[in-house]
Amino acid sequence: MISWFRTVGARLSLALLVVVAGVLAFVYLIVVPSLQNRLIDSREAQAARVAARVADQWPATSPRGLALSFCSAANMRVTIFEINNRSPLSLLDIADECAGGSVGGIDDDPIAERAAATLSTARGVATRGGRRYAEAAVAVPANRSAVILVSSSLQDSLSSVSLVKKRLLVSALIALVAALLLGYGGARLFARRIRRLERAADRIANGRFDEPIEDSSPDELGELARAFERMRQRLAGLEHARREFIANASHELRTPLFSLGGHLELLVDEELDEAMRREFLGRMREQVDRLTKLAGELLDLSRLDAGRLRVDRDPVDLARVAELLVDEFESVAQGSEHGLEPHVDGTATGLGDEQRILQIGRALVENALRHTPTGTRVRVRVGRENGRALLAVEDDGPGIAPEDAVQVFERFYRGDGGGRASGSGLGLAIARELAEAMQGEIALTSAPGRTAFTLLLPAASGTSSPAIE
Ligand SMILES: Nc1ncnc2c1ncn2[C@@H]1O[C@H](COP(=O)(O)OP(=O)(O)O)[C@@H](O)[C@H]1O
Ligand SMILES: [Mg+2]
Repeated sequence: MISWFRTVGARLSLALLVVVAGVLAFVYLIVVPSLQNRLIDSREAQAARVAARVADQWPATSPRGLALSFCSAANMRVTIFEINNRSPLSLLDIADECAGGSVGGIDDDPIAERAAATLSTARGVATRGGRRYAEAAVAVPANRSAVILVSSSLQDSLSSVSLVKKRLLVSALIALVAALLLGYGGARLFARRIRRLERAADRIANGRFDEPIEDSSPDELGELARAFERMRQRLAGLEHARREFIANASHELRTPLFSLGGHLELLVDEELDEAMRREFLGRMREQVDRLTKLAGELLDLSRLDAGRLRVDRDPVDLARVAELLVDEFESVAQGSEHGLEPHVDGTATGLGDEQRILQIGRALVENALRHTPTGTRVRVRVGRENGRALLAVEDDGPGIAPEDAVQVFERFYRGDGGGRASGSGLGLAIARELAEAMQGEIALTSAPGRTAFTLLLPAASGTSSPAIE
């Protein structure tokens, strides 16, 4: 079991949490304060403009009237101080007007004092009675030296800002919880599908290929599931083939062994005359041959399966192979009353392993003699086709039904060709795999009266240089 912090769900929701928290912190700590500063700035600038306009009209006959007119027009408090020359920086309030009435004493205002001290313009934020004001002050050092202070309450704006901040905090909390839930929920959904795949993989690892893996979603996990399913099907097929192979092979081994055992017992137990003894020994010899052949075939198959079968790639004169085959099977063909003849059509040199080509040829000729009725003519033909060299074994027997044509190449497949068909059913399977190992192929064309198994091999280029693997 993985600890909770290592699950995809936990990691995803933590990542979401960090992102959301980061964004909110950025807004709260950087965006909001900078907005607030710009707001204060613009208020100060506004106050400065009003102060400048008041200063333009100074000196006035009625300072109070002047202050009042601007105060109501700009909705800002306008205060005019006289600079007291005897003690610098002490300002005398000569007109203090503001829209909405007085807001407490404004003497000792730091902004006004700064303007008086520098005899120029000053602006900033002043706090009075727990409230903050954006202020601008202009010193007018003409004949009657004065300081004009314009002050605008920031209370409303600042309280809106703090309201925004509060709401932001609340929505941040909601967003964080939502991110946590969403991340975790989404990841759990994925995690469930991943766990299903994990269980499926475990099942396959334990050799259980029966349960299909289903996930039809179009995302990456769905793709993965489909790849798993393909793997399961392939493994199930291989497993089936393996079991079948073992069952077939042991069955094939048992039959001759039973027969051998039976004959052995007869030989030991019974009082036999010489003729019977010879017959039994002859049958036993047949079974031993059959076993030997089967053992060789099984060995070839296991080598082919393991990819350990070595095949040479030399130029092989197929006409010579055909002659060897006809020589080898001549007496067998005579015994079963088949006609057997070579048919060489020009030269044909294929690239391959002579012994393996002979082995294929033997399997094909043997089949043509064994699976056809007596009197059938069998021809070993050599020639070229589409730049490839071919060795074909053709007979005018009854042929192979189209529905069997694919199966004859399967391992252990035997047609129901009567008692004569006593092979193991491995001949054609091995022949095809050998041909493929030599980059060739075996094609089958069959109709009643003409059946041809054709081995096609890459033609050797020229006569000399053998291809190197
Ligand atoms: N020339 C042929 N004519 C008719 N049937 C054939 C011929 N060659 C092969 N077959 C069929 O194909 C089957 C498989 O052949 P093969 O793999 O060599 O196995 P086996 O010869 O041991 O039966 C045979 O059992 C037979 O039914
Ligand atoms: Mg055969």
